[in-house]
Amino acid sequence: MEDRVKVVVTGAAGQIGYSLIPRLIDGHTFKNKIVDLELVEIPQVVDKLKGLVMELEDSNFPNMGDVNFSSDFETAAKNADWFLLVGSIPRGIVHNGKKIEERSDLLQINGGIFLEQGKAIGQYGKSNAKILVVGNPANTNALIGRNAANNNSQLWMAMTMLDSNRAKSILSKKLNSDIANISRMIIWGNHSPTMYPDYENILVNGASTFIGQDAINDMDWINNEFLPTVQQRGKAVIDARGASSATSAAKAALDTVIACENPTALGDCFSAAVITDGSYDMPEGIICGMPLMALSDGSVEIVKDLSLSDFAEKKIKISTDELIEERSAVQDLLK
Ligand code: NAD
Ligand code: LMR
Repeated sequence: MEDRVKVVVTGAAGQIGYSLIPRLIDGHTFKNKIVDLELVEIPQVVDKLKGLVMELEDSNFPNMGDVNFSSDFETAAKNADWFLLVGSIPRGIVHNGKKIEERSDLLQINGGIFLEQGKAIGQYGKSNAKILVVGNPANTNALIGRNAANNNSQLWMAMTMLDSNRAKSILSKKLNSDIANISRMIIWGNHSPTMYPDYENILVNGASTFIGQDAINDMDWINNEFLPTVQQRGKAVIDARGASSATSAAKAALDTVIACENPTALGDCFSAAVITDGSYDMPEGIICGMPLMALSDGSVEIVKDLSLSDFAEKKIKISTDELIEERSAVQDLLK
């Protein structure tokens, strides 16, 4: 294997990190590429990564390249192709004596992390680097990071693939169809309970005539089961597990990398939140869940030719309004 890819993962000693990192080098995510890993943690726990590196070595992963671990993000960022920004505080834990229940608490605690990391990515990351923010509140953290990076050739995304995977799982049961047969599952808006999982634009078995609206035809189920279940699934997992979702979040991060690394099939798209550019009349300057496609040159674009019903537009507005509010709450980090 000649090609190499350098991937930075923050929060590497956390729950998501433990499930995510091995699968970056198992040959599935980056096919035919040696993967150099930069694992980043806060100084208090960085030494724990020694144990993870020992396990990676002991696993004989076929695509493992150089593996470094440190708490020096700037050095880790040099010439990196991918940044998986997981490192941050999840809901459900006690931080400084207070249980973190609300997203607004996370906004204040986690937002600052992305200011410093954004600056370093803009300065030291590759000009075509792709950045996936997983740490919550992911959309607004990505906005802070992108703004600090000030490097428009880099692609900043916030993760909505987990929501898309959850929505596909529920729809596959409703439609009695394999998950693999459901495509074009878009999550519009924020990775929060206001997100809009777009059942109307899905394709079932790739047939564009058999789109979601016709296939489901059950508004009671959409309004009272489908939408709230997808929107509240993160909290439901926290309540059931006593911890934020981790293995499904790691899988979704890997799915996002795979979706970006391979050209999207004609007519399909994948979900992540990116900076708005006026398409679909979305307010500009927020990181909003959109339909995306990867091109053969490695770039990623917004798919612009889908239609939205009045129902969808109303739901999406609730979520974009929330993103505008979150942006106002972190104005000091956007200067
Ligand atoms: P965790 O607490 O198990 O791990 C987080 C790790 O990040 C910790 O080891 C911590 O030391 C590290 N960290 C904190 N600040 C850091 C910094 N500045 N630099 C590097 N590392 C840092 O949490 P987790 O379960 O792995 O979740 C991580 C984040 O992912 C949380 O914010 C959670 O809410 C979010 N999440 C997002 C999604 C999504 O779909 N977008 C899904 C699940 C979880
Ligand atoms: C999730 O969707 O599982 C996470 O974002 C957890 C959360 O805080 O909602």
